[in-house]
Amino acid sequence: MTTRSNFGSKLGAVLAAAGSAVGLGNVWRFPTEVGNNGGAAFILIYLICVLLIGVPVMISEFLIGRHTHANTITAYERLAPKSWWRIEGVAGVFVAFLILSYYVIISGWTLYYLVQSCIGTLSVAQDFKAGFSAFIAHPWWPVVYGCIFMGLTHLVVARGVQSGIERFSKVMMPLLLVIIVVLVVCSFNMPGAHDGLRFLLKPDFSKVTTRVMLSAMGQAFFSLSLAMGCLCTYASYFSSDTRLVRTAVNVSLIDTLVAIMSGFIIFPAVFSVAGVQVDEGPGLVFITLPHVFQMAFHSVPFLGYAFSVLFYLLLLLAALTSAMSLHESVTAYVLEVANISRRRASIIVSVACMLLGVACSLSFGPWSGFKVFGMNIFELFDFAASKVIMLLSGIVICLFVGWKLDRQLVYDEVTNGGTLRFRLFRLYIFLIRYVVPIVIGVIFVNELRQ
Ligand code: PHE
Repeated sequence: MTTRSNFGSKLGAVLAAAGSAVGLGNVWRFPTEVGNNGGAAFILIYLICVLLIGVPVMISEFLIGRHTHANTITAYERLAPKSWWRIEGVAGVFVAFLILSYYVIISGWTLYYLVQSCIGTLSVAQDFKAGFSAFIAHPWWPVVYGCIFMGLTHLVVARGVQSGIERFSKVMMPLLLVIIVVLVVCSFNMPGAHDGLRFLLKPDFSKVTTRVMLSAMGQAFFSLSLAMGCLCTYASYFSSDTRLVRTAVNVSLIDTLVAIMSGFIIFPAVFSVAGVQVDEGPGLVFITLPHVFQMAFHSVPFLGYAFSVLFYLLLLLAALTSAMSLHESVTAYVLEVANISRRRASIIVSVACMLLGVACSLSFGPWSGFKVFGMNIFELFDFAASKVIMLLSGIVICLFVGWKLDRQLVYDEVTNGGTLRFRLFRLYIFLIRYVVPIVIGVIFVNELRQ
């Protein structure tokens, strides 16, 4: 087998992992969930989930990846040869593949909206809801945009870990943060912005149900890229002196900040236009926001234009760095197990995934009548991946590290062979042994019963 690559620097490693975490989940899914689940109370539960569940699971994934320096499936095989734990690795790679297939389609929508805002179509008053529905139901336009997006992702992954993923993340992540700050400032200056802020900051606990908790937990997993082999794969390229705990904390912090700032961009803007709903669901950034941009165009044309272009650019860049990690999770496996070149492995993954992506896209249009358990293909994939398999995988990762792995191995890995201090090691072990599996399990079972 060829020698394995590594990230060239610690900063590169953090930015790549943060790039994986920051994605559509932050800018599109988080505000949608906040809008649907009653604002600030949801955010509070979300923060608790990130701290008590997200960070420990991330540390666990990091240590599995870095210890084995292998793709996710091989990693579990090495740590627990000839055992059922292997399934956890398989589940990770499989879910990454599944998510990538619909992730590219939504990212393709983003690309379409970026193009539309650049050529100024969004500045014309129109029925944005009808426009959006017509676009996503079209038999091939969304597929074309999805293919272009997949092509971009492919180009980066095929170049390799250092000259592709790392280099790209090092440029894109700072750019993305700059765009976010600019947009927050713009949004705060819109009339009526304080109503949006009140919605984001004033918790209403009467809205909290187990469904809301499940959503918050699912969102934390999705947003932090947990349980999909992505972080485990990236950690397999970490060098021996990368500090795992610190990296996990930094990545979670960046991810959470971006999610909340996205809320700060979207809600003040949305509340500034009378009659626009915050609980528009997935249409929030594709229906509600264009409406807001259009109104802004009306009063200050240049600002409205710049705002919309920058916003969809932000969404696209965020999606790209995440798609890269999903792609890499599968590519690393194909490459190492089939022992073929990275170029070939990435082509296989891109093509196979795109085929599935076409099915997802068609499920909004010609195939919308095809339903399983009342869900179309897209909804089914999303439900299976980000509500079921991902959370179950999260439980298994914790059980694996908490109960199966040798405690000394775990300690050595998180402290880089005893050279770092990790004062909360006991708390960490307690969390992954008991708290995380039980909390996820209880909420999950409760939801299934309903
Ligand atoms: N975390 C990404 C987001 O927020 C999505 C993702 C999930 C990426 C799982 C990789 C793995 O959009």
